[in-house]
Amino acid sequence: MNEPRWDRLLLNATLATFAGDSPCGLIEHGAIALHHGRIAWVGRMEELPDAPGTLAATVESVDGSLVTPGLVDCHTHLVFGGDRAREFDLRLNGASYEQIARAGGGIVSTVNATRAASDEQLFAQALPRARALLADGVTTLEIKSGYGLDLESERRMLRVARRLGRELGISVRTSFLGLHALPPEYRDRRADYVGLVCDGMLPALAGEGLVDAVDAFCEHIGFSRAETRRVFERAQQLGLPVKLHAEQLSDLDGAALVAEFGGLSADHLEHLSESGVEAMARAGTVAVLLPGAFYALRETKLPPIALLREHHVPMAIATDCNPGTSPLLSLRLAAGMACTLFRLTPEEALRGITVDAARALGLYDRGTLAVGQRADLVVWQAKQPAELCYWIGGSLVHEVCVGGESVTT
Ligand code: NIG
Ligand code: FE
Repeated sequence: MNEPRWDRLLLNATLATFAGDSPCGLIEHGAIALHHGRIAWVGRMEELPDAPGTLAATVESVDGSLVTPGLVDCHTHLVFGGDRAREFDLRLNGASYEQIARAGGGIVSTVNATRAASDEQLFAQALPRARALLADGVTTLEIKSGYGLDLESERRMLRVARRLGRELGISVRTSFLGLHALPPEYRDRRADYVGLVCDGMLPALAGEGLVDAVDAFCEHIGFSRAETRRVFERAQQLGLPVKLHAEQLSDLDGAALVAEFGGLSADHLEHLSESGVEAMARAGTVAVLLPGAFYALRETKLPPIALLREHHVPMAIATDCNPGTSPLLSLRLAAGMACTLFRLTPEEALRGITVDAARALGLYDRGTLAVGQRADLVVWQAKQPAELCYWIGGSLVHEVCVGGESVTT
């Protein structure tokens, strides 16, 4: 008998491919073949080239279960020390995020806890968070630095992020977020800190292979457009892509700035203007929506969804997992919140945690179920795509595959 041509063949699948023209790229009574870590065949079962049993070393039926690409969480601050439950309490009693930040709490309090934690402690605290996302179907995870704010502490955060990827067997993409907050020791020396980020930290960390992209927090309580531009220019010199926390609390025209640099994404965007949307559309910059932060801050201003649609700006959804504005550990719930709070359709929200999230990371080898893509996929205890947004909480994952290998969740 001939060698089977594929490693593994799944039959009787409801495939949400996010490729092709049908809603969600849906293929019912589908089959998907995995070989050497890639998707080798995808289509309707009846179109398989031969009797299924002869085609792969392992052939199994998933009994009509939904199969999607592995989910991509394209914006997290998952590595940090401590927590900010106390701040949650303060906010519930009327303090705003900005007031807490200006009073020396907020990001800076997490910086103190992160600096005080050992590498092992940082890793041990981040691991269950990363596991929770994986158990919810995430196979590619972006993790930002930005709670170290000195060279050694930022390096430690980025190394912990890389280690999480290795130990869990998932893809981790790192973003350097040196311009997240002004560290207390630079209180009266802003320009010196921006200089250190641009000329000291970024080139050193990039040289060590720890940086896949460069991010900044462009906001009155963060950094100005001019300061952001400086770090983007440095990133450009180093050949690194940029992204930006933009228009979260006010409109500083950050989206247009990141678009000017051909940025991968502009993230948050509640205060985004139409000219910002147009600039993003021209540059192909993805809008990353973060409904967890909107919810936790009890924000009332909605991101301009209708304008983003009108200008065909792809919309990704992410958890923004962080201790301050979004202690959210389910990307599926983020997608559900994008439907309920932002009025995205389930299809838009699901594209937002697969194909459009991959684009927000500059990744084109994942996010759809198509021949040649990485075999990152999830078999769900669900029959139709909308269920992934509809169920609130609980576990729907049956199996997660990364690069064709089943991973333990
Ligand atoms: O995406 N806004 C800036 N950064 C984070 C919050 C970080 C924090 O509060 O610790 C965000 O919302
Ligand atoms: Fe963020």
